[in-house]
Amino acid sequence: MVQEAKKEIGAKEIKTGEEKKKGKKEELVKQWRGIDVKPLNPSFEILDRYVLREKFAEVIIAAPPGKVVEPIYFVVETPLTPQEEAALEKIKDILTKELDIPKIGEEEEVRKVIHETTLKVMKKYRRAIGIPSLSDEVVQKFFYYIDRDLMGFGPLNVIMEDYKVEDISCDGLYIPIYVWHRDFESMPTNVSFNDREALDDFIIHLAHKAGKHVSSAFPIVDAMIYGKHRLAATFREEISPRGSTFTIRKFREKPFSITELILSNVLNSEMGAYFWLLLEHKASLMLIGATGSGKTTLLNALTTFIKPRMKIVTCEETAEINIPRDNWVRFVTRESYGLGATERGAVALFDLVKTSLRYRPDYLIVGEVRGEEAFVLFQAIATGHGGLTTVHAEDVESAVKRLMSPPMNIPETHISLLDAMALIQRVQLRGKAQLFGRRVRFVWEVEDAHRYRKIAEWDPVTDTFRVNFANSLQLENISIMNGVSKEDLMLELWRRKELLEWMRENKITDNDRVASIILSYYADPEKLIAEAGITVRKPPFPVARRAEAVAKPVAAQPVSGGSPQLAATGVSLEELEKEVKPIADYIVDAILRRSGPIPYWQIFVKTPYPRDVIIRAMRYLKEKKRIDIIGGVVELME
Ligand SMILES: Nc1ncnc2c1ncn2[C@@H]1O[C@H](COP(=O)(O)OP(=O)(O)O)[C@@H](O)[C@H]1O
Ligand SMILES: [Mg+2]
Repeated sequence: MVQEAKKEIGAKEIKTGEEKKKGKKEELVKQWRGIDVKPLNPSFEILDRYVLREKFAEVIIAAPPGKVVEPIYFVVETPLTPQEEAALEKIKDILTKELDIPKIGEEEEVRKVIHETTLKVMKKYRRAIGIPSLSDEVVQKFFYYIDRDLMGFGPLNVIMEDYKVEDISCDGLYIPIYVWHRDFESMPTNVSFNDREALDDFIIHLAHKAGKHVSSAFPIVDAMIYGKHRLAATFREEISPRGSTFTIRKFREKPFSITELILSNVLNSEMGAYFWLLLEHKASLMLIGATGSGKTTLLNALTTFIKPRMKIVTCEETAEINIPRDNWVRFVTRESYGLGATERGAVALFDLVKTSLRYRPDYLIVGEVRGEEAFVLFQAIATGHGGLTTVHAEDVESAVKRLMSPPMNIPETHISLLDAMALIQRVQLRGKAQLFGRRVRFVWEVEDAHRYRKIAEWDPVTDTFRVNFANSLQLENISIMNGVSKEDLMLELWRRKELLEWMRENKITDNDRVASIILSYYADPEKLIAEAGITVRKPPFPVARRAEAVAKPVAAQPVSGGSPQLAATGVSLEELEKEVKPIADYIVDAILRRSGPIPYWQIFVKTPYPRDVIIRAMRYLKEKKRIDIIGGVVELME
């Protein structure tokens, strides 16, 4: 085998330019043989069907009759008559000889050239190759198949283009290709490879398209193929005795939007509004859960809330994050070239996260932390960057424990830099058509490594959420930092909740639309609310107190400007002074030592007291007019 492989590589090296070109052209035509597509059995029960290409391609999910429903995925394309099929093969043959495909260029451009040439060929050779007519219908059908075969994945193209398919795997010859479907999860398809060489060629073809090499000597490929899909494949029987295998994990072009997640009750609109306020203010957020629980999906949906002008850098091992905006730098790790001890050129997540800091992101997003990159992320958060990440853990305690153990090694004192954590789980639903769902089970705010405040919780009995924003330190924090009373902030949260609710009711699920609405809201909230015709309902919490508070002279006002805990217990400024004076003095000292204004977040890094105490001290200082906070910077007032 090694001998054979050497020959292969050797042969490749001495190929002349001319031969290479020829080889490529042949590849275009030959690659789709040996793939079997079974027709839909008419006795099957149809569970779902949707059109992927008007008039030409459709997906039908159907199950054989019987008690247990076992869905099968059917690719159904407009059929070609034997005569048309023969003609199509001939056209493809001629095309690959005549076509000068632009080397670089937009897909659309390439498609245009191919279509123009196809039409020319069809006209010129119509009789010779036996095309029945040149009606628009026939021409469009030929275009469809030419696109599919020359630019797409041939008979696999429908599966590749189906946005509901998450991944595609081929475990060997004569075995149906399996897909992971958004609505039906794992199921077999009516497509299979029935020719060993065809399967091998398919893998070589994909690897080459990604600029990678695969052979008996290098039987494993892991590559990003075009469309940002991730290919993992094994070649021939070297390590997979049943022959070549591959899995394509599709990059989701249309990620779940926050509206879709709210619609399917992963979280509710109030929680959405809460996350929105947090993300607007550069909070650091960690999503935890098991593999496949939907962490990355939620993370992605939440990124839409990030303030438009903020710069986002993402670092991932697999390209999964997809943010509908331009100001976004994306990094994906690279596997090493070569084998074993000669590994070279690998770029690990750790390197990416380190590099990403040079880009000065407002938000640093790490797909999933597992190793030392977590430490870098926490350093970034400690220096004022917003951080967003996921970690694999079953609950908050084990997540924190994981963070503090090797290889992540986050110092205990840094844990409190995390503002909030959310646990997402796949749960069983009671008495619903759907058997399981994904739910944000808990949202906590982090006080330190051992203390968390519960902000939201899912109730399995009613399948609803209980929220308690009065308990929120983060909202308190945002209120102080921006000089907004907590009541006003709660009203703002309420209004955003109403907007999300409106998007839910009107099924505004498309991510670009969602993003553009959020953008407009940032630009001018009142205008958007008015233009969309949203009526903001009365919040269930008292608002009148706010008017009172504004009317009262500041000095006479009890410290009810914000904290409900304080308001509830009726703590006066004097009482508060007793409690937080030493901490307040410490903070003032710290600012004095800096001899200049200090970023708000630094107060938390530099003051060795619990977060809630620091927040109260800050409120005290503000009420006493000893400090002012403008644009996230704290200044001493003389
Ligand atoms: N709310 C959801 N509804 C339907 N499918 C979901 C949902 N969240 C995630 N998924 C799907 O589940 C799979 C795993 O989700 P992902 O977010 O990657 O999980 P994790 O990051 O926790 O491993 C993906 O195929 C994704 O599309
Ligand atoms: Mg993930």
